[in-house]
Amino acid sequence: MVMKQIAILILTGLFLGGCSPKASGQYETVKLQQDNLEQVIEAMTLQEKASLVVGGGMTGSSIGAAGIIRALPRLGIPALELSDGPAGLRLRSTATTWFPSASLLASTWDTSLVREVGKAMGTEALGHGADVILGPAMNIHRHPLCGRNFEYYSEDPLLSGKMASAMVLGIQETGTAACLKHFAANNQETNRNNNNVIADERTLREIYYRGFEIAVKESSPKTIMTSYNRINGIYTSEDKNLLTDILRYEWKFDGVVMTDWFGGQDAVAQISAGNDLLEPGKRRQRRAIIKAVKNGTLPEWVLNTSVRRILELVSDAPSFTKQAQDQSLTETENAAIARKAAARGMVLLENRDALPFKDSIQKIALFGVSSYKLVAGGVGSGEVYAAYTVSPAQGLEEAGYVPDREIMKRYESYTDSVNRAYKRKWKSITQRILGQGLPAEMHPGNEAIAMAVAQNQAALITLGRRTGEFSDRKMEGDYLLTTTEKELIDHVSKAFRDAGKPVIVVLNVGGIVETASWTEKPDAIILAWMPGQEGGRALADILSGKVNPSGKLPVTIPVHLEDLASDRDFPLIDFPVNWLSFIGKKQTQPETDRPNIDFTQYREGIYVGYRDFDKNGKNVAYPFGYGLSYTDFRYSNALAHLENGKVVVSCQVTNSGKRAGREVVQVYVSAPEGWLDKPVQELKGFFATSQLEPGESQEIHIAIPLESLASFNPDIGWMVDSGEYTFRIGSSSRDIRQEVRLPGIPKLILPLPFRLPLPK
Ligand code: BGC
Repeated sequence: MVMKQIAILILTGLFLGGCSPKASGQYETVKLQQDNLEQVIEAMTLQEKASLVVGGGMTGSSIGAAGIIRALPRLGIPALELSDGPAGLRLRSTATTWFPSASLLASTWDTSLVREVGKAMGTEALGHGADVILGPAMNIHRHPLCGRNFEYYSEDPLLSGKMASAMVLGIQETGTAACLKHFAANNQETNRNNNNVIADERTLREIYYRGFEIAVKESSPKTIMTSYNRINGIYTSEDKNLLTDILRYEWKFDGVVMTDWFGGQDAVAQISAGNDLLEPGKRRQRRAIIKAVKNGTLPEWVLNTSVRRILELVSDAPSFTKQAQDQSLTETENAAIARKAAARGMVLLENRDALPFKDSIQKIALFGVSSYKLVAGGVGSGEVYAAYTVSPAQGLEEAGYVPDREIMKRYESYTDSVNRAYKRKWKSITQRILGQGLPAEMHPGNEAIAMAVAQNQAALITLGRRTGEFSDRKMEGDYLLTTTEKELIDHVSKAFRDAGKPVIVVLNVGGIVETASWTEKPDAIILAWMPGQEGGRALADILSGKVNPSGKLPVTIPVHLEDLASDRDFPLIDFPVNWLSFIGKKQTQPETDRPNIDFTQYREGIYVGYRDFDKNGKNVAYPFGYGLSYTDFRYSNALAHLENGKVVVSCQVTNSGKRAGREVVQVYVSAPEGWLDKPVQELKGFFATSQLEPGESQEIHIAIPLESLASFNPDIGWMVDSGEYTFRIGSSSRDIRQEVRLPGIPKLILPLPFRLPLPK
């Protein structure tokens, strides 16, 4: 027995310390402090270093988070908890606040509000013992059918970058670390672990990296997560040019880079490239790193660099500094913030004098499964285990309206029967992981509609979509409304409008759906996005007029999906989720030749979203930046002048209508002819006004740094052409209210930095 214990002790010693004298107790007294990182690194064994850079597995977390950084108690290093995600903490062990998803937050165009949401999340993280929030997510909406668009902000890199910066600043002001993800070009879910993005450098720099660059420079996130995909043949987590040359040397990022969960293939290539932390971590990755250091293929100083960055993160993290927060203080406050943000990001697409509801409206017939079961957010790591979600029916009832009981009963019993059948069903792995989808839409029958017309003063139809991680959306029955949904809109609209009663359609979706073919049928359309747990209350705030809508589209809604330049290079097919690659199983021979599966060509280049629609003069259903209000705004006194390397654009915005409201002022810039082909206009600045009373005005000043007018020339660097620029100030990209021409913008060249070779 004693012999066995001695043997275990020796073996444990060998594993943790190897034969190194460091294990002999020589350095035992070194414990991590904020100013002794070098000493700690010096005291670490190779095995300990490898165990720090490779996470502690999917089940390592003590709070039900997605992953951890391992503890090394001998050195006073606590474990750090890494929790998803962009819409609130995702902890298997506890209920947390489900905030609105990113597309809704971006629709507020309000950096202060997004920062407030970030701060609320950061505070909640402290209360639950999470050190790092795995968000914000900020990939570009290259195509509307990317399954994860709900987690991402916009088709425009400036709006994405500013939103992400605000979120990071909010999260990090609490002491919790944020994580920008997924760096970069993770714009489809289909075959996401192997897909190879083929794009030219200008496109990458100006569209797919630009938002990350803005967020890195303006908010100093403590961590960044690389994406699953490859770019031009190289996994992003193994790409030294991306992670070291661009991210660290050019943008001066000084935090920790981590992989996405099981991302990439080669642990040694990842550490060599500057991807410091491999999550969630596998034993074979630790072994590979140890072996590579021993045989000289991975210099130990390179590993030490990653270790140092992780120790910096640890020594600043709540688990180390013992910073904590009384959770009970934040729950109600955070729910109020979630509600406020949700109402501010809903976009009013149509309103033919139907909203806000007139005082005469009391009884409302609510159609659509999602009227009774809100889709608060998307599926996958972005989903949050909230204590509750408020449906439109509940929200309206709390606001004093009376939902039609008969119609409600029909939907509830339909949903119950679908749920019962689902429980009895045999389930595939995909169904088990993704959970039950939304029941297919239900039409209660024309008789029930006729009765509802007689009993109610208005109708609301909520159409929901439950989309998310792992797969992309489909055209039929998802982007295009199903036959039942179309019939529901047709029949309810006709019956209620014939009786002079308004019909409102609410889109409870993570990404846009087709609208052009039915937009004339109801009286109003609200894009409510995936609004988080308080969605129903926020919706009632908009419908009742308690909140005047000020949300503006962060994306373009096209007339036809085929109008999009990226549509020819997007996987509009049913492709099975490869769960094996998700859990990190190495593919022996990944296939390489299936277009839009193995590789995706970004042939549209920089012409994504409105950049494409404007260039080709195409009609759209709703333009980028569009959104209605219950009041009107007048723009006047537009000016632009050059001051200290910035163009300062100013104007006055006046509420010329009858209700208090907010406006989002947008500045688009048209450049003169120059060295490179340029978009017709690009968003270069924006500002969300404060709540303006009728007749009230606000002076707006938007500073646009000259460098941000630059385009990327791969042979030289960033270049601003000299000449006359037009600053177009408007309420949407296609509703420009004032134009100012500013001649004399000087030529500016920002060459790429000269890079010293790395030390050996
Ligand atoms: C997602 C990440 C997430 C991670 C941990 C991955 O599947 O792509 O966004 O942070 O899982 O849950």
